[in-house]
Amino acid sequence: MKNEEILKKLRDAGDYVSGQELCEYYGVSRTAVWKAVRQLEKDGYVIEAQNNKGYRLVEKEDADVFTKVEIESYMDTSWIGRKLVFHRETGSTNLDAKALAEKGEEAGAVVVADMQTAGRGRRGRGWVSPSGKDIYMSLMLRPGCRPEKASVLTLVMALSVLEAIQEVTTQTCGIKWPNDIVINNRKVCGILTEMSAELDGIHYVVIGAGINVNQEQMDSEIQDKATSLYIEGGERIRRAKLVARVLHYFEENYAVFAKNWDFSGLVEKYNRYLVNRNREVRVLDPKGEYEGVARGINEKGELIVERKDDGRTELVYAGEVSVRGIYGYV
Ligand code: BTN
Repeated sequence: MKNEEILKKLRDAGDYVSGQELCEYYGVSRTAVWKAVRQLEKDGYVIEAQNNKGYRLVEKEDADVFTKVEIESYMDTSWIGRKLVFHRETGSTNLDAKALAEKGEEAGAVVVADMQTAGRGRRGRGWVSPSGKDIYMSLMLRPGCRPEKASVLTLVMALSVLEAIQEVTTQTCGIKWPNDIVINNRKVCGILTEMSAELDGIHYVVIGAGINVNQEQMDSEIQDKATSLYIEGGERIRRAKLVARVLHYFEENYAVFAKNWDFSGLVEKYNRYLVNRNREVRVLDPKGEYEGVARGINEKGELIVERKDDGRTELVYAGEVSVRGIYGYV
């Protein structure tokens, strides 16, 4: 019996659970249950104990305990996150997940951190990663598809983060193609996917997500483009729960992707959330910028853009170009 199992049982019950029931459920002694409860109390949980009733978890409204045990108490996946590493502080969870992959760890391993000292963003940029506020998480996979098919995994993660945020908060989010989650036109989540592959096969893929959760104020230089769930909704979010729900939705969405190793089963859902859809966009293509109207994505994850100048339809591939709104970031 692990501490997170007792925590989960108490949380699910929402009321007293007798010591006897816990002993029988986990096949352990009363002393073992008592020790686990003591450990949870040391970790900061408030657990009421009454002689004739048993144990009850007292949930604080705005508690945001961010530990491995807390995350695991919310997990319901079957293979993703079976290996979960939690760091109070690390350089980059993407680098940690890559190191696990290089050591031969199984697909589905997850690294989560409360703080990163060298958070990595797209296009060689950094990712500001203070402690106690946000989520930094990376998932390692070994998909059995050709390397060129793996780029849509970023979109699978975007969809999963969006679904988790919409479940755990009262927020309505959208996706700015290809993989930024936005609320009110400002970014709350960025995703960085890195791959180690040969021409015809993938060694591993690491998908890292940085979610701005409980930050009360964004750094001044990114305030116009970035926001947090707290700033938008005014509610403190349990990061552990959000991590577990991202992994839940990812496992579901990945199963759809893995049927044919393409995005066809997810396109419709993704397009529903695509904020660029039917909006004017500027495509920052290194071969020449142009403007047009975005019509959605196809099953390869490419953005379909009708050019303003000659009406031709372009399929924009995320790797080469970025897309901006005509009047701002979205
Ligand atoms: C972006 O530039 O939009 C992508 C940002 C990705 C940040 C996340 S935080 C967790 C993981 N570890 C990293 O070093 N980067 C990603």
